[in-house]
Parts: sequence; C-alpha cells; structure tokens
Amino acid sequence: MAGNAVGLGNFLRFPRQAVANGGGTFMIPYFIALLLVGIPLMWVEWGIGRRGGQAGHGSLPGQFSTLWKHPVAKYLGVMGLFNTLIVLIYYCYIESWTLAWTFFSVAGSMRGLDEQGMKQFLYSYQNLSDPSVHAVWVPFLFFAATLGLNFFVVSKGISAGIERLAKIGMPILFLFAALLVIRVLTLPPAAASPWEGLNFMYTPDWAALARPSVWLAAAGQIFFTLSVGMGTLSAYASYLRKHDDIALSGLATAATNETAEVVLGGSLAIPAVVTFFGVGAAVTIAQGGGFDLGFISMPLVFNQLPGGAWVATAAGVMWFGLLFFAGITSSVAMATPALSFMEENFGWRRQKSVAVIATLAVTLGALHILYYQRGFLDEWDYWAGTFGLVVCALLEVIVFVWLFGPDNAVAEIRQGARMYLPPRLLRFVLTWVTPFFLLVLMGWWTVQEAIPTLLMRGRAPEEVAVRWASRGVMAALFVLQLWLIRLAWRRRAAEGRPL
Ligand code: PHE
Repeated sequence: MAGNAVGLGNFLRFPRQAVANGGGTFMIPYFIALLLVGIPLMWVEWGIGRRGGQAGHGSLPGQFSTLWKHPVAKYLGVMGLFNTLIVLIYYCYIESWTLAWTFFSVAGSMRGLDEQGMKQFLYSYQNLSDPSVHAVWVPFLFFAATLGLNFFVVSKGISAGIERLAKIGMPILFLFAALLVIRVLTLPPAAASPWEGLNFMYTPDWAALARPSVWLAAAGQIFFTLSVGMGTLSAYASYLRKHDDIALSGLATAATNETAEVVLGGSLAIPAVVTFFGVGAAVTIAQGGGFDLGFISMPLVFNQLPGGAWVATAAGVMWFGLLFFAGITSSVAMATPALSFMEENFGWRRQKSVAVIATLAVTLGALHILYYQRGFLDEWDYWAGTFGLVVCALLEVIVFVWLFGPDNAVAEIRQGARMYLPPRLLRFVLTWVTPFFLLVLMGWWTVQEAIPTLLMRGRAPEEVAVRWASRGVMAALFVLQLWLIRLAWRRRAAEGRPL
C-alpha cells in the first residue's frame, strides 16, 4: 500500500505544486485537505476493497455492486477502471523518463551542461521533431523497457510480483532520499542557503488562503499523492481477510506517504534549487509547469555539487533512481484493477489479461510520445488524474457511506481495527464533512477550472486539434469500459454467478 501511494507525486508533483502556489501558503489547505478528506477517503477505499473482496471483487464495479444492490452501481464503478487505466498509461511514460535519466546519469551525458544545454537535453527528448540531442527512437525504447518491467512484475502476481518489488524498491527509495536530503541540507550557501528553501515552505501567508486556486491545487495534490479516488487502494484491500485491520493500516499508509512527501520530498528539490538559484528563480521554474524542476534544475544542481564528476553521477543516480522506484511501485498498482476485472469477470488467465492491457498501453502510450508537446498528456492528467479523482472519490463516499449506510460504513472500517476510532466522530466526518468538502471542491473546480479548460480558453491554435483528439481517445475508452461492464454482468447472469 505504501508502494502504491508513494510515487512520482511525492517527489516531482509535490515540490512543483507547493512552490508554484506560494510555499507556506500551500501547506495550510494541504493539511486541512489531508485531515478532512485524505485520511477519511483512505479508510473508505480500504473498507470498500475489503468488503468487495469478500464477495470476490477486485475492482470498483463489482465492489460498488456488493455495497449498493442496484443495477446502476456497477456502472458507477467505471470511474475506478477509467482513472486507473488512463493514469497508468501516461504515468508509465513519465516513469520511463526517470529510467532514461538514471541511465544518462550513469553515462555522464549531462556532465558539464549549462542551463541552456540542460533544457535542450530535456526538450529534445520530449519533442520528437527536435533530434538535436536524442534520436527519435530513444524515448520509445525507454518507454518500452518501462512497460516491459511493469508488466513483468504484475504478471508474477500480487505477492511474488508486486509485493516483492515493493520490498526491494521501497527501502532503496527511502535510503536514496535520506542521503540526498542530508547532502542538500548541508550544502554551503550559494544564491541562498538551503534553509531559506525550507523557510519558504513553512512560512504561511494567510492572506493568500482566500485564493481558491491554492485550495484546489492543495486538495488535488492530496488526492493524487494518497492514491485515493482511483480504486487502486481498494484493489489491494480486496486481498485482505474479513478481520484484518484497515484503520491503523490505512492511517499508517497515509503517514508513510506524508513522511515521504513532506519530510523527504519537501526537503529535496526545493532547498536544492533555492540554494543554487534563489527563491524567486525557484518559483519561476515551478510556475513554468512541466517537469523542469526535476529534470532540468536538479541535474544542474548536481553538476555544481562540490566533489566533481563522481558526486554528480552518484546524486543523479540516486535522484532519478528513487523516482523510478517510486514510480514503478505506483504504476503496478494502477494496472491491478483492470487485470482483476478481466480475470474475475471473463475468466481470463493472468498472462492473457496482462498481454491485452500491455498492448493497449503500448499503443496509446505511443500517442503520448508523439504528441506530448501539443498537450496530449496534459489532457489525460487533467481529466482523469485530477478532475476524475474527485468525481470517483465522491462516488465512493456516496456509495459506501450514504447508500451502504453510515452505520454499516463505520462498522466496516472499525472491524478488526487495531486502533480506536471514535464511532460517532467517524460517522459525522464520513457522512457530512468529507462529502461536503468534496462537493464544494467539485463545484468550485468546475467553475474555476474545468469549464475554461474544457473550452480550451487561451490555448494555442496548433494544440486545439491534438487536445480534442486526446479527449476523443479518453471518451472512447470510457465507453468501451462501460460496455465491458455490461458484458461482464450479462455473463455473470448467464453463468448464474452472484451479480
Ligand atoms: N500516489 C501516486 C503518486 O504519488 C500516484 C497514484 C495515483 C498511484 C493513483 C496509484 C493511484 O505518484
């Protein structure tokens, strides 16, 4: 579960979001969202998963239908399949950059590059029409290798594949992160001192709390980083037994994730970049969006570390290596719901399901590589990876708390609990606070962002067609998945299996 939650979101997305939204300003809504929606949703997803798992369902369509006996329930669960599949594909593409950059660090390809050179190094990789640094096939190669590794792991199954990967990858990731944090925080001051970076993160600017965009960014980060609103936590929880603890384990997962994110993730890229470039430059880089902070500024910092080439190589391998391990332990989680769905409903063998999903990922992933520069990935990240998570989370709360019943929901979460959860408080939070927060968030989001985004306000004309095509592919997948759910339930009915 920790492997699932700790991911690229902790080390790449978090520092960029925090810096772009004013550092300390961001942290207050961030922690409020963690307490009011993040942790409750964590328990909700574990509850949905363990309960659904008792009835043999490893993905949201079936899990919803065990909680709410209504023919519509399974279709609502499509959000779990949709979000995970969409995010899986583009996430693996970004993950493949981290593999590539680990390789480039070992090879010393970025040694001695200045800012312009480092930019060129990234942009030529992202933009196939600019082969000035990387040949056109290079991104495809690393993407194929990343998918190969992912699908190799998931084909081995949950304990021999995913669990084993996590047992190796997670300690390495924490070790690398800790070593880098020590190095960064003991850096001699250059443009600023590393502590100024931390100061920036922890000095709140209360006035900025009135800006809705900061709240949306903070809540969006909480969802993404905890992996809630996707059905991957519930997919893992479906393997639990009836009396296994979910209260303490869910909380421990959130705590592990927040340690990795705030303590480690927050003490890496931000102080490192602030030390060499100053706070103002760090904000400009983060607001520029994209991946410049992690893939341009960080290697620039490494090149300037005292100690020369060896140190730069070691730091690069640790940074991109930790990103890769963080990424792969999350992407295998994203592959799980779709695989369970195919196996449980269509009786496919694991290898066959893996082959089908892998083919889909290769094909659609190629579109990301080809059209990254025109916003193809951005659309998927927005609609499934940001907005879709909130929609799915809201459905989860409605089904698990309101339709299954608040008392049942509370009893389910407390069953087998190894910690005391006050039932009345939990009931109140789950019934009112979390859904209310989610509804407000969704309303705000729709007005502030989703509608302007949908209408392509301010988009460059050459992007518009690609972005519509990107949405078209998503829509097609959505419809396909709805149809598969229908087909699955017909089969179940025909075979006399419980619906
Ligand atoms: N939580 C992961 C991260 O921080 C991403 C993720 C989202 C993984 C949803 C699984 C499901 O990168």
